[in-house]
Amino acid sequence: MKLIFPTSPTKSSVLICPLFEDLPPGNFIAKFVKTIVSPLKELKEFEPKEGRTYFLYQQTFKNLPRRILLLGLGKSKKLKTSSVMACFGASIKAVMPHKPRTLSLIFPEPLTQFTQAIAEALTLGQYQPGALYKTGKAAKKMGEQRVKTLEIITNKKLKEEAASFRKGLLIGGAANELRDWVNAPPNRASAQFFEDRSREIAKETGAKLRILKNKELLKLGMGALLSVNRGSPDEARLIIMDYHPKGISPQEKPIVLAGKGIIFDSGGYHLKPAGHLEDMQLDKAGAATVIALPRLLYRFGVQKRVVVVAPFTENLIGATATKPSEIIKTYSGKTVEITNTDAEGRLVLCDAIAYAIDTFKPSFLLDIATLTGACMIALGERYAGLFGNDKELMEKLKTAGEAVDELLWPMPIHKDDAEKLKGYYADLQNHDQGTARNAGASKGAAFLQEFVGKTKWAHLDIAGPAFVSDPKKYEVKGATGFGLRVLLKFIENL
Ligand code: BES
Ligand code: ZN
Ligand code: ZN
Repeated sequence: MKLIFPTSPTKSSVLICPLFEDLPPGNFIAKFVKTIVSPLKELKEFEPKEGRTYFLYQQTFKNLPRRILLLGLGKSKKLKTSSVMACFGASIKAVMPHKPRTLSLIFPEPLTQFTQAIAEALTLGQYQPGALYKTGKAAKKMGEQRVKTLEIITNKKLKEEAASFRKGLLIGGAANELRDWVNAPPNRASAQFFEDRSREIAKETGAKLRILKNKELLKLGMGALLSVNRGSPDEARLIIMDYHPKGISPQEKPIVLAGKGIIFDSGGYHLKPAGHLEDMQLDKAGAATVIALPRLLYRFGVQKRVVVVAPFTENLIGATATKPSEIIKTYSGKTVEITNTDAEGRLVLCDAIAYAIDTFKPSFLLDIATLTGACMIALGERYAGLFGNDKELMEKLKTAGEAVDELLWPMPIHKDDAEKLKGYYADLQNHDQGTARNAGASKGAAFLQEFVGKTKWAHLDIAGPAFVSDPKKYEVKGATGFGLRVLLKFIENL
C-alpha cells in the first residue's frame, strides 16, 4: 500500500471523514459538513457518536470524491486506542466492497496521538481470509477490494506522524502475514514451512539460526518434544533464532521468547472430539508469533538481544504415536508420565524452555502458547492469560498490552496446582486425573514453571484471543495475530 500526504483528495474513489461530537471539522471540509452533514444531524440520521458510520453520495463538492463515509469518533477527549482501532477497522471494512483503489482519509489533529494505532487498524481491517487460496472470480474480487494508495489528508506537515503511520502499516502487515501462517492448514504450513520462513528472516535480520531436527533432538535428550512428534511422518524442528544487533555487547544477556508450535493438534490418543478438532491448525500461533517478531525488531532497529526458540511438530495418532501411560525423559532430566496426549503443548515447551535457559542464560524468558482450552473458557477471546514468577515483568507486559489493545489478564499459580502434577510413577505427569477440569490454565502454567527454575519468567496463554469466532471490529474470524504487537511494544518499552 502506497502512502501519500496531500492537502486535499486527488483521485480517490472513497473518502473517510472522521467527525467528533465536540469539535468543528477543520479546513476544506468545513463547508461540506455545514451543507451536507449538519442537516443529517438535525434529522438524527447521523450523529458523530463513537463508532457510528454513514455512507453518503454527493456531487456538489467537486474537490471531494462522490462516495464519502462519515465516521463518528465521539468526544475527542475520550479517545482511546481500543476504540480508535475499532472505529478505523470497521470503516476500512465498510469501504472495501466499493473497491477503494485509492482511499482518502481526513486526519484531524486529535488523531495524531493515535497515528500508529490507526495505521495498524487500517491494515488489520483489510485482512482477507482465503486470499491465498481462492481462485477465479473470488480472487479477482478480493484483488479489487484492496487499497493500493492511501491518501492521508492534512493541512499541516506530519513529519513524525508520517513515520508513525509507516511503522503502523509495517506492523499491521507483519501481523497479517502471521495471520496467514496461523490460519494455514497443516498441508500448507508444515514444520518445513516454518523452517523456510525462519531461514528468510534470519537472512534479512542477520540473526543466527540453528534448526535442530530429530537426530539432534535425540542427542540432546529432548524426549518430551520427540514424544509428541512420534505420531507424525514429519520430523520435529526446534528453531532457534538469535537476534543480536551489532551495537550491543556480546556479553549482554538475551531475552528468550519461546512459542508453542503444534502444526496440528489432533489430541493424539486422547483424540479431540468433533467440534474441538477442526481449527487445531491454530495451535502453532505462539511459535509463529515469535518467529515473526525479529523482522520487526530489525526493521525498527531495536537494540536488544532477543533469542527465539520455537518447537514445531504435529500431534497425531497412529501406530508409532505416544500412548497414554508412557514415561518419557525431558531435556532437563525430569521424567514425565504422559497421562494425556492432548496436553502436548507443555511437553514441547518444557524442552524448549529448559534448553534455552541452559544455553542462553537469559535475563528473563517469556513463552506464548495456545496452551489450554481452560484459559479460553475462563477469559474468553479478549484477554490472554498472564502467568509468571515476577511481578514487575508481568506488570510491564500488561501495560504494553493495554497500549496496543492486546489485553493480558493476570492469573494465579497455586502451589497446589504444581502438587497435582507430581507423577505417581515418574517425577511429573502432564495432566492430573480427578480434579483435571479445575484450574486447567493454571496447571498448564504450573507444569511449565517446573522447568524455569530461578529465571524470571512469564507465560502468555493465548488460546482465546489467537483465533476467534467473535472478532473485534478490526479483526475477522480466525487468526488475529495476537501477541506480535504486545511483544514488540513490551520490548520497545524496556
Ligand atoms: N491446543 C489445545 C488448547 C486449545 C484449545 C487451544 C482450544 C485453543 C483452543 C491444548 O493442547 C489442549 O488440548 N489442552 C487441553 C489440556 C488438557 C488435556 C489438560 C485442554 O485444554 O483441554
Ligand atoms: Zn492438545
Ligand atoms: Zn495443543
